[in-house]
Amino acid sequence: MRVLVLSDIHGNLEALSAVLAAARPRGWDQVWFLGDLVGYGADPEAAVQQLRALNPAFMVRGNHDKVICGVESASGFNSAARTAVEWTQRALSEDSLAYLRALPEGPAVAAPGVWVAHGAPLDEDEYLLEEGAASRQFDACDFNLCFIGHSHIACVFSLRAGRIGRQVPPPADGLKLGPGERHLFNPGSVGQPRDRDPRAAYAILDTQGGQVEHYRVTYDIATASQKILQANLPPLLARRLETGV
Ligand SMILES: [Fe+2]
Repeated sequence: MRVLVLSDIHGNLEALSAVLAAARPRGWDQVWFLGDLVGYGADPEAAVQQLRALNPAFMVRGNHDKVICGVESASGFNSAARTAVEWTQRALSEDSLAYLRALPEGPAVAAPGVWVAHGAPLDEDEYLLEEGAASRQFDACDFNLCFIGHSHIACVFSLRAGRIGRQVPPPADGLKLGPGERHLFNPGSVGQPRDRDPRAAYAILDTQGGQVEHYRVTYDIATASQKILQANLPPLLARRLETGV
């Protein structure tokens, strides 16, 4: 089975369309989505429609999804994120808000030993950035491979022979899933990368081949940022797409 793994789309239609166009010839049997479908970008309704059309086999909610659909308050958000929340709430149909409300809390078990989570398996809102935090997840959970998002930084934490290593970015020729190894894999963000590479990011899990492929895709950043400015969303959200930080 081949699984297209998408995270942190954030209402960026240009990025999502480019990822799907690039991934289609590589082929997939299922789509898994790691949360943050909307928030920041200027096309939240179209992003919801596109993801719904893909009919993901497994999905979890992100912190922006939760706040925008009213499951949680925006009190922990900075002012640009809060402005984007209010704008996005107005831009979404009732139907799409209901879709966001129905997104489940992670983690979800998507295949034997394979989990999906937004921030971390132990806490959907935690940013997994360093080995110590990853170690707590490996200790407390029994996944062999867990896909995570939230930080918008493509990376992989691997536990091999009792030692944790971190690769940023993930290996370009694919992460081989060796026997006895365990991994936390962040494919990076489709719609708002923050790892100094502004290209959209995604991964494909190949269960037969025993590996995770990782890809970056150029997309029409100029149009996506122009739409943000035209919508009177905070200009820093447009700049961020261009710089990838
Ligand atoms: Fe996000």
